Amino acid sequence: MPVKLVLGLQHGDEGKGRVVDDLVQSWADVVVRFQGGGNAGHTVYDRQGNKFVTHILPVGVLSANLINIISRGCVVDIEEFCQEVDDIEVSGSNLSVSGFCPIIEPTHKIIDRLKYQKKLGTTAKGIGPAYSDFYARDSILVKDIVDNPEQSLIKIQSKFFSLQEKRAQDGESLESLKPDFDLFNDWVLKYKEMSEILGFYRLSNENILQDYYKKGYNILLEGAQGSGLNIFSDNYPDVTSSAPSVGGALNSTGLSHKQIDEVIGVIKSYKTKVGSGAFPSIINDGQEKILADIGQEFGATTGRPRKCGWLDLDEVKHAVQQNGVDHLCVVKTDVMTHIKNPFFFVHGRKYSLTKINSVSSFDPGFAELLKQIEIHTGIKQISYTTGPKRGEIVWTN
Ligand code: IMP
Repeated sequence: MPVKLVLGLQHGDEGKGRVVDDLVQSWADVVVRFQGGGNAGHTVYDRQGNKFVTHILPVGVLSANLINIISRGCVVDIEEFCQEVDDIEVSGSNLSVSGFCPIIEPTHKIIDRLKYQKKLGTTAKGIGPAYSDFYARDSILVKDIVDNPEQSLIKIQSKFFSLQEKRAQDGESLESLKPDFDLFNDWVLKYKEMSEILGFYRLSNENILQDYYKKGYNILLEGAQGSGLNIFSDNYPDVTSSAPSVGGALNSTGLSHKQIDEVIGVIKSYKTKVGSGAFPSIINDGQEKILADIGQEFGATTGRPRKCGWLDLDEVKHAVQQNGVDHLCVVKTDVMTHIKNPFFFVHGRKYSLTKINSVSSFDPGFAELLKQIEIHTGIKQISYTTGPKRGEIVWTN
């Protein structure tokens, strides 16, 4: 079984990071982040309960001796990349970033903040504008920064000054533009060092995953965000700008659909969402506060509170079908034991569940939850976590 793909099947924040971490401990040789950018926040607790969060780096960097790759479908903020590499004390030998990743320029972050943060509730990390430039074929790629740093900087500066000029023409005062000039100047001062660091981590062989596959390495593809945020979904425009899906993984990694042996879909035992868009299973009876408090439902990237709702099996079934999911992993099951009157949501309405007293297949409430998931998704292989720490996961074969 050399390739496993982990996908979120809700609106992100399902707990993919800890599922990936578990597979890193027990199975993976290579971990690949294949879409999105620093909008993700993958949280992992070790056995002692120490917390780690990765944003653009694959979760495998938290463990020794793993090969970690950021493949070309990701957009990379080079400043945040360098910071994260430094914070996590990653060693150069176990992390590479594709030369074909588009970079997130300071201009992209400004546009995101000014145009999309309020409108769509984006993370303001520059994700949408960076992908816009990519599809318009105006991106500066990692390899451009590494091979031609001066020329790339001229292009980056020119985009920045065009935007500032336009803002001034539209009537913005110099005073309101100044903080962005200051941030940009600061970024330019760090540019040379950042481009050198990036050069150190640049992937030397863009076809390396096929080589690893041939050698029989266990390759783990780490999805970010979730199916409900897929740009190719009916939730458009309340989505992110990448494809957290099998399709997104194939485009980004150069692996074929025949090479993916197992698709693992991660869901929470309830649902959370940040940003705009419909949320049919949202809870308004006070129990949402319990889920938010016990489940610590605050964004790992932005700190924003997440809205809470019941597990929506309509959306999970849809995501299972579209991605050919083989195996589900239900996360944050222990949080549901704090709920007096639990429900789940299917066929557009909510249904009550027996109270869950413990996370065990012998508990009638928990067994009923797993049964409903199986009935409404058609997936029989359902694993689950029993607590937040590394190792607290029951894998079903
Ligand atoms: P963007 O990805 O920053 O452009 O944001 C677009 C939408 O996706 C917004 O509703 C964000 O809140 C949401 N989003 C992006 N990344 C994540 C994530 O990792 N978890 C949850 N929601 C996310």
